[in-house]
Amino acid sequence: MRLRIRRSHIYLILILGLLSIGWTLFIRLDKFKTPPLIEGNDLSEKYKFKSNLSPTASAPILLGKIENDSFRCFGFKKIDCLINNEYSVGCYKTSDDMVYVPFNFIRRYFDIYGKLIKTPNKQEIFNWEHSYSKVYYPKEAYDYKSTYLWFDNYNVEVRDRVKLISGLKGVPISTQWEPRGHFYPIQIAQFGLSHFSKSLTLGKPRVTILEDGFFKQDYWHVAVKGSRIQIHSMEDNSEIDAETSFPTIGEMKRAFNDNNDNNNTVNINNKVLFVDGEAITFKLKRKKMHNDLTLSLRVKPLDKFSFTVYLQSDSGNYEYAISYANTNIDFDENGPTYGFGESKVWHHLTRELGVDFQKACTILDKKLPIKMKNLHVSKIIFKGKALIDDVILSSSAHESHFFSAVRWLLENQDDLGGWPIKTTRKLSNGALILKPGWYSAMAQGQAISLLTRMYHYVGDEIYLKAATRALSLFNVSSEKGGFRTYFLDKYLWFEEYPTIPSSFVLNGFIYSLFGLYDLKMSCAKQCETVEEYFKKGLESLKHLLSLYDTGSGTLYDLRHFSLKTEPKIARWDYHTTHINQLLYLNTLLKDQYLSTVSKRWIGYLKGKRAAHN
Ligand SMILES: *[C@@H]1O[C@H](CO)[C@@H](O)[C@H](O)[C@H]1NC(C)=O
Ligand SMILES: *[C@@H]1O[C@H](CO)[C@@H](O)[C@H](O)[C@H]1NC(C)=O
Ligand SMILES: *[C@@H]1O[C@H](CO)[C@@H](O)[C@H](O)[C@H]1NC(C)=O
Repeated sequence: MRLRIRRSHIYLILILGLLSIGWTLFIRLDKFKTPPLIEGNDLSEKYKFKSNLSPTASAPILLGKIENDSFRCFGFKKIDCLINNEYSVGCYKTSDDMVYVPFNFIRRYFDIYGKLIKTPNKQEIFNWEHSYSKVYYPKEAYDYKSTYLWFDNYNVEVRDRVKLISGLKGVPISTQWEPRGHFYPIQIAQFGLSHFSKSLTLGKPRVTILEDGFFKQDYWHVAVKGSRIQIHSMEDNSEIDAETSFPTIGEMKRAFNDNNDNNNTVNINNKVLFVDGEAITFKLKRKKMHNDLTLSLRVKPLDKFSFTVYLQSDSGNYEYAISYANTNIDFDENGPTYGFGESKVWHHLTRELGVDFQKACTILDKKLPIKMKNLHVSKIIFKGKALIDDVILSSSAHESHFFSAVRWLLENQDDLGGWPIKTTRKLSNGALILKPGWYSAMAQGQAISLLTRMYHYVGDEIYLKAATRALSLFNVSSEKGGFRTYFLDKYLWFEEYPTIPSSFVLNGFIYSLFGLYDLKMSCAKQCETVEEYFKKGLESLKHLLSLYDTGSGTLYDLRHFSLKTEPKIARWDYHTTHINQLLYLNTLLKDQYLSTVSKRWIGYLKGKRAAHN
């Protein structure tokens, strides 16, 4: 669109002074990452126009209506901006015919972002950005044994569409497409991959063993009040059976390998705590503790059993409680309480108390009352009869989390080697429908990426075998319940959503290629098959990639071609996902074409556009 204006140039400049309550409402703060502050102190020159305007920064301005004349004294005159002959917006005009258009209008009109920020020398400036999303540039070449893509930056469990982390399974329950919640294989694989990646990049966590079967009175004041508590000697570790929810490496090996050389780093003293009573209180000595909120413990209920963890604000003014009980109910609003399973076996629990608290607040529709970093564990109260061991607070427990994800994948892989998705998925307002039980190339691919990494991490073939089994669905067409399809009967494609007709979602396809690559590099069997899928997939990618290029961004999929509907434009975060994927892929391929495309797509993030005729 072009504005036709008689006088030479009329610049669209923001009236900083008008930015106030009105427009801040429109900025998507949730999506807006704080931009890097501009360095240097030459800003007064660069942002000179601002100082003329700021003194009256008070009158809120609403779209289409100027409320107040207070700018007149600066030589500004109120003027209507007529937009495409359809409606008008209140603007200002200076004596030399410059027109100032309110940013809240520009923001919506062009779908761009902006906010007031402070520079390092405390100067307020307006920061305008074309997109809200950022590119993760690979620091080194993609390595199938190491961190998965840029996923060490992700924190899957805090996403809105994660309802909670199941106490029974140790993996997220998703509300995506199914508000009641379901285990969504893609989310679980991503949860595993992000924790795997973090465990490599963030180093060893800080660990405080609060209790390992000896009374560790360094950390605790124990109040028993008419209950029983005693040290219980375990003859051997045989009671630690395979059904625990949070296995350590040793337990994983034993569970799947029948390999008995269990060498856990904890519980080497064969002593556990026996508790029996209504309220056995372990109060932490504050001075000794950090604000670590990752709690792990091993517990074997002998009867009904629960424990409550108290989180106190550092100021001491507030205290919140979360409970855990041996029930099969994932979440009970009373308490609130997370269930960790009924069976009377050893359970190895690892809980992110901050996440549990946050999710409980969301489910109970309460506002999060306090920042997590200002909370610490003040006490734990055990109730009922159980054996307890290895109560640990740590700064993180990434290993435990990705083990849980891997374990879920092993337990839930079906006869076809797949992880069926048990909800209905509708695309294009219901024009495309996937009935429960569909498979996704993205789920298969990311599961393969996690399983192959686990294989290299612990060296156990069981993970490689599961990853190889996951391959067979890559040979089943969407019509036959798989996700393999062709573009114009020619280019092989693996579908994130195996709709009929095909939807050709780009990001899910590329994730599936990374899975194929990881398996290709790790394979023992079917090596030629996986090699071929990967090669053909890459060829398709290179041939079809330009179809996703809009000249100012990218398309999410090709449904406009399949369904002859309007195109689905990728949101900025999906656009950057496309770029990230190409950049990582190209650390392997070093392909000139991919490099050119990714550079162009990066340009779109800054408002660059392809030339027109
Ligand atoms: C215009 O806005 C200023 C600042 O908010 C206020 O003091 C003044 O009374 C307003 N004038 C009118 C005519 O509303
Ligand atoms: C178990 O751990 C100890 C101490 O870390 C080590 O010396 C020993 O070799 C390990 N045993 C096995 C079977 O891995
Ligand atoms: C893939 O499926 C086709 C038939 O649909 C079959 O001929 C071929 O052997 C299969 N390939 C693999 C590697 O299983």
